[in-house]
Amino acid sequence: MQLAGKVALITGGASGIGRATALLFARGGAAIALADVNADAGQRVADEITQAGGRAFLEPVDVMRAADCQRLVERTIREFGRIDILFNNAGIIRRATVLDLSEADWVSRAVIPHMQKAGGGTIVNTASGWGLAGGAKAAVYCASKGAVVLLTKAMAIDHGPQNIRVNCVCPGDTDTGMLREEAQQLGVESSRFLAESAGRPLGRVGSPEEIAQAALYLASDASSFVTGTALVVDGGGLAGSV
Ligand code: NAI
Repeated sequence: MQLAGKVALITGGASGIGRATALLFARGGAAIALADVNADAGQRVADEITQAGGRAFLEPVDVMRAADCQRLVERTIREFGRIDILFNNAGIIRRATVLDLSEADWVSRAVIPHMQKAGGGTIVNTASGWGLAGGAKAAVYCASKGAVVLLTKAMAIDHGPQNIRVNCVCPGDTDTGMLREEAQQLGVESSRFLAESAGRPLGRVGSPEEIAQAALYLASDASSFVTGTALVVDGGGLAGSV
């Protein structure tokens, strides 16, 4: 029960990495505020947690809308009393076109004053291996994720004195709906795309549960002296050529 008594707010919690993290954090004892544009899928995750004896709710939120984020944070404080952990994870992929999502902005702005008042907290942002290295036909996604990595470091500097730790996880290709979405956008057959994505030292793509374990480490006291870091979880994909 690494997160007993904690309250975690998770964006993009309806699917993939966010869903796996919500289930893992709930098993660790945290109450979960789920935020997602996909209300139906998000509600199913919240139900899964409550049916297993945990505490969770889903708030339909577009993280690009400041008013949605404010409403989400107010509801979390109202229902759970505090926010100890923020996992800024909602994201979309646009291969070769414009990505207009600034994932880490509005929710953090709304959450940080509450963490300050409570004497601290932890923020985990989901960046990407493509926040640290470039990739083909992904210029704007790379720019956006590179920004998340440096936003993480800048926020760690600003909020360290308030006992708020800010880190990011950089997943490599992970088996979620996003990989299939990429294949579709690139016009590549899904099974071929997944096979090519496995071209890394460990010879496979990651699972959402493996990324969730990294988020748990960064969110929990196990990482109490870690802030401003970008934790790569990618089966060795960035280590060099296979
Ligand atoms: P996913 O598509 O399974 O889940 C993303 C979730 O975010 C969905 O539930 C979606 O409804 C939600 N979402 C999207 N835009 C939103 C918005 N404006 N407001 C609220 N919710 C929104 O994808 P996955 O793979 O779980 O992605 C999670 C994060 O991981 C993203 O930030 C993504 O960029 C990042 N990532 C994923 C990798 C992969 O290979 N799957 C690799 C590296 C990073």
